[in-house]
Amino acid sequence: MFKNFKHEKIETNAGLLLVLTMMAISVAGLVEIAPLFFLKNTVEQVDGVRPYTPLEQRGRDIYIREGCYTCHSQMIRPFRDEQLRYGHYSLAAESKYDHPFQWGSKRTGPDLARVGGKYSNEWHVQHMIDPKSVVPESVMPRYPWLLETRLDVSDLTQRLRALRRVGVPYSDNEEEYRRNVEQFGEDVARTLHIPDALKNLLAQAQEHNYDGDRSSVSEMDALIAYLQVLGTMVDFSKINPEDLVKYR
Ligand code: HEC
Repeated sequence: MFKNFKHEKIETNAGLLLVLTMMAISVAGLVEIAPLFFLKNTVEQVDGVRPYTPLEQRGRDIYIREGCYTCHSQMIRPFRDEQLRYGHYSLAAESKYDHPFQWGSKRTGPDLARVGGKYSNEWHVQHMIDPKSVVPESVMPRYPWLLETRLDVSDLTQRLRALRRVGVPYSDNEEEYRRNVEQFGEDVARTLHIPDALKNLLAQAQEHNYDGDRSSVSEMDALIAYLQVLGTMVDFSKINPEDLVKYR
């Protein structure tokens, strides 16, 4: 069928090759991109996803500051082996309040997208101070200063306001608060109220006592609060897989 097709002509003519290559890329690009314009939403609607509490959010800041993402991804791909090891594949909705997101692709250590609840707080403290003491073959560095460093909360409200600017629904006034109550319920809405951020942060640290020392709030408290919530917001036993496929 292609007997008379002069492929050589295309390959030896740079201009023609360029034009045809551009055409092929344009068509392929349109096929990938155009359908997205017709979807109302590319992020699934799932129950349970909420913005981080002030303490968790500060823990996330420390996670980024210490460069944990250079060794840990937070995205479980929809492959059988990954799901057997880590659990349900990550949904876009699960990181919709992450600015910037921590998906990553480098896995010197395991994926952390669903590490919340996998270990006790005590295990995390010990592991962060000296990973080799709990996992002898570990190559993860030690982070002992997190336990000794008081959490800096001086710019807490500014940090939450900055996130509010990019779309995370932390509330600054009654109207926003009311909307959050409707969306997340009273308990969660309260933790998102910026004027009460410091009070809520201290209350959460006190209640859960992440680092085993109630006398002050350390960076360890914040980091472990963050690790313990990862992947725990969505209850996958209540999700119908068909509902997720719709948006794929
Ligand atoms: C040089 C690479 C490296 C860096 C940087 C690193 N880790 Fe790790 N991490 C590892 C490796 C390797 C393991 C697996 C062995 C172990 O459990 O220690 C691991 C394991 C973990 C685990 C246990 C995961 C599981 O499912 O068993 C947690 C939690 C963790 N790291 C958190 C962190 C946090 C938080 C930071 C930043 C403060 C961090 N890591 C920085 C390499 C790293």
